[in-house]
Amino acid sequence: MKKVKLGIIGLGRLGRSHAENIRKIANAELTAVCSVVEEEVNSAVKDLEPGYGSTDYHELLNDKELDGIVIASNSSFHCQMICDAAEAGVKNIYCEKPLAMTLEEINLIKESVEKNGVNVFQIGYNRRFDKSLIAMKKKIDAGFIGKPILIKLMNRDPASMAEYIVKFSPTSGGLVFDMLTHDYDVARWLIDSDAVTVYGMGGVYAYEGLAAVKDIDNCILTMSFANGVMGFMETTRNCTYGYHVEVEVFGTEGSVRMGTTPNKDRLVALNKEGENTECVEWFYEFWEPTFEAELQHFTDCIQNNEQPVVGLMDGYKAVQWAITAKEAVDKRTIVNM
Ligand code: NAI
Repeated sequence: MKKVKLGIIGLGRLGRSHAENIRKIANAELTAVCSVVEEEVNSAVKDLEPGYGSTDYHELLNDKELDGIVIASNSSFHCQMICDAAEAGVKNIYCEKPLAMTLEEINLIKESVEKNGVNVFQIGYNRRFDKSLIAMKKKIDAGFIGKPILIKLMNRDPASMAEYIVKFSPTSGGLVFDMLTHDYDVARWLIDSDAVTVYGMGGVYAYEGLAAVKDIDNCILTMSFANGVMGFMETTRNCTYGYHVEVEVFGTEGSVRMGTTPNKDRLVALNKEGENTECVEWFYEFWEPTFEAELQHFTDCIQNNEQPVVGLMDGYKAVQWAITAKEAVDKRTIVNM
C-alpha cells in the first residue's frame, strides 16, 4: 500500500519529536520538514532524511505530493497556518493544541476548514491515546462505576521548567489556556458532557517572573457539567519532584483512577534507608507512547478515509472552555459557558 506522505511545520520542543515519530510509522513517510529556524531545518534534514526541508511553510502547503500537514508551530500561529493550508487545498491537517487563541480565531478556522472541504482534521489531544485513560473510558461506559458523580484532575508541571515557562508564557496563552485544555478535553471525553459553569482561583506563588507577563503558576477550578457531574482541577508549574498527572472518576458504584506516584521507569527502589523513588521528569517522558499513537491514527485516517477520534469540534470546545475558565480565575467568580 502507498505510504502517506506527511510534511511538518515546526521543529521545536515538540515538532522535532513528531518528525521523529512519523519516521517510526510504517505506513507514513516524512516527506517535508519546515521551521523558520534554519538550524532546526538543517539538523532535521541531516538526521531524519525527509524529501526536503524549507523555511517557508507555504512551500509545503503548495506541494501537491503531500497527503497531509502536521502543524507543530507556536500556538499563536495555528489559526493563520490552518486557514492558509485549507485555502491552499490541503485536505488533511493535524494541529497541535490549543486550536487557536481567541473565539474569533476558532470561528475563522471552523469556517475555513468547512468551506474548503478539509477531510481529516485532527487536534493534538494526545491523552486520548493513552492506554490507561482508554481503559478508564471503557470501564465508565460499561457502567463499572455506576453513574459518574465527580471527576478530579491533577496536572503538575516540573519546577525544572520554570525558566522556560517564564519565556514561553507570553505566546502560550498562560497557565489555564496552555496546560488545562488537555485536562478539559480528557474530562469531557471521559464523562461525555460539556461544562456549563466554571469557578476558579489562582495566583503567582512560586515564580515572580510570571506576574510581569500577567500569568500565574498555580490554580484550582471547580465546574459543573451539563449531565450534572461535578468537576475539580488543580494545576501547578512548580512541582519539585517531577511531572505528575492523576485522573479519577467517582460514581455511585465505584471509582476509576489513573495515577500514583509517577515513578521513573515504573521502578520502586528500596534500600536500608527506605524507599527512594525518582519521578518522571517531564510531560514527554510520561506520555511518550501517545505521541506516536496519535500520528499513527492521523496517518490511518488519511489512508482509510476515516474521521479521527479527536477533531475540530473538540479543539473548538476546549478553547471556548479555556476562555471561560481564564475569566473565572482572573475574576475569582463563577462564569457560565
Ligand atoms: P517551540 O517554540 O519549541 O517550537 C515552535 C516551532 O515552530 C519552531 O520550530 C519554530 O521555528 C516553528 N515556527 C514558528 N513560526 C513558524 C513559521 N512561520 N513557519 C515555520 N515554522 C515556524 O514550541 P513547542 O513547545 O514545540 O510547541 C509547539 C506547539 O505544540 C504549541 O502549540 C504547544 O502548545 C504544543 N505543545 C503540545 C504539547 C502536548 O502535550 N500535546 C506539549 C508541548 C507543546
